[in-house]
Amino acid sequence: MKKVAIVLAAGIGKRMYSKTPKVLHRICGREMVFYAIDAVKNISDKVVVVISKNIPENIFGSLEVAIQESPLGTGDAAKAGLSKIEGFPPDAIVIVLTGDNPLIREEEIKLLLEFHLRNKNGVTVLSANAFEPSGLGRVIRKGKRFIKIIEERDATPQEKLISEINTGIYIFEKDFLEEGLLKISNKNAQGEYYLTDIFETLKEKTKIGVMVLPRRLPIYGVNNRKELAIASQLIQSEIIENLMLNGVTIINPQSVIIDYGAEINNDTTVFPETIIQGKTKIESGSEIGPFARIVDSIIGSNVKVQFSVIINSVIGVNCSVGPFAYIRSGNVLDKSVKIGTFVEVKNSKFKENAKVSHLSYIGDADVGKNVNIGAGTITCNFSGLEGNKKNPTYIEDDVFIGSNTTLVAPVTVKKRAYTAAGSVITENVPEDSLAIGRAKQVNKTEWVKRRKSSNDK
Ligand code: UD1
Ligand code: CA
Repeated sequence: MKKVAIVLAAGIGKRMYSKTPKVLHRICGREMVFYAIDAVKNISDKVVVVISKNIPENIFGSLEVAIQESPLGTGDAAKAGLSKIEGFPPDAIVIVLTGDNPLIREEEIKLLLEFHLRNKNGVTVLSANAFEPSGLGRVIRKGKRFIKIIEERDATPQEKLISEINTGIYIFEKDFLEEGLLKISNKNAQGEYYLTDIFETLKEKTKIGVMVLPRRLPIYGVNNRKELAIASQLIQSEIIENLMLNGVTIINPQSVIIDYGAEINNDTTVFPETIIQGKTKIESGSEIGPFARIVDSIIGSNVKVQFSVIINSVIGVNCSVGPFAYIRSGNVLDKSVKIGTFVEVKNSKFKENAKVSHLSYIGDADVGKNVNIGAGTITCNFSGLEGNKKNPTYIEDDVFIGSNTTLVAPVTVKKRAYTAAGSVITENVPEDSLAIGRAKQVNKTEWVKRRKSSNDK
């Protein structure tokens, strides 16, 4: 039997008080709607995501997108979704779910599907027993028999006492969804077309079943930032547990943040107060943290990173970063490179065994093998004339840059050359030479004694 899923992800999300559409708010680095999509994508022949015009379609890749022109309610959104599955047969299974429930899992949708088929229902609602039902639709029953779903704002005080809630997840035989949607109205407290009103209109037409979710969730939808945090916390624990079960040591799981998209291999240790974000990949045997923030970067094996920030960069095997380094965007470190204390690097390449150990800024530079950059070295890359133009510095293999060297780019220091400490290098340095770019020292002998004797007079 053909199965399609409609994910309702339009609407405003008023209670978020945000410019960002609700379903694009991120949970562990990922827009929340993708968790709902995950729950259905492997068990459906087609997924239709219903979005509003202010959500970019291209983030959904190959999934089908339907636009809901204005946020007239979940019933209207489901109608927009239906328009994309016209080709499916009338008895096709349609899974409808809200895009703001990131906690529901594929196994639970599968259970619902089995329940629906086993009971030969035309429609099945997934309900749950909520610890905190307020704000949610309540399941009204007479004895055990399902009567209807009533929204909080339309409920009587008695109905509000009911703890069985509507999860916002349903299975329909396609023709019943089509037929039922034609009959719902917007005569309710919010003036919206409620998908939940469909059950009353279908009662006489087909068998409606309700399955109670076997798990109790802390929330059944993310409607505000508090629920966003609750969902994030749960998903964060899952991510961290999964990493630990796959061989990553996490010293204090409560103190780290690791995004959904991050990959960490076994035998890497994550120390406290570490944040690993975006599409970061960390190979095995590395030690990350304490106090590290790594964003969209690739970290090789046996790397050490302490008290440092790494953004959009590649760090090779056996490298060492920090404490207190800032690896800004666009750096590539080959193996065994050291970026040490109070060092900032940007858009630079470092070949094997290059070292910048202390107090330096290296930007837009190519640094060769075995180069040693002394403390306090600065690449003056900013031209200051042509807009935002940055000039390159080339430091070839086996060069020694003396402490407190100022490299005024564009400039090249050729193979095996040295720069004297405190030099301002404005011209290229040839191979094997020593460049001294500073005033010659003058020693005034006996100067102190002369000054003292003149003071005494
Ligand atoms: C909805 C249900 C409620 C249920 C709860 C579970 C209705 C009327 N109510 O309430 O019974 O307990 O979910 O979480 O369905 N959306 C659209 N277009 C719209 C409005 C909403 O696509 O015009 C989408 C939203 O992006 C959201 C989902 O539908 O992901 C649910 O909308 P929301 O406004 O959050 O509904 P609730 O009031 O939570
Ligand atoms: Ca909701």
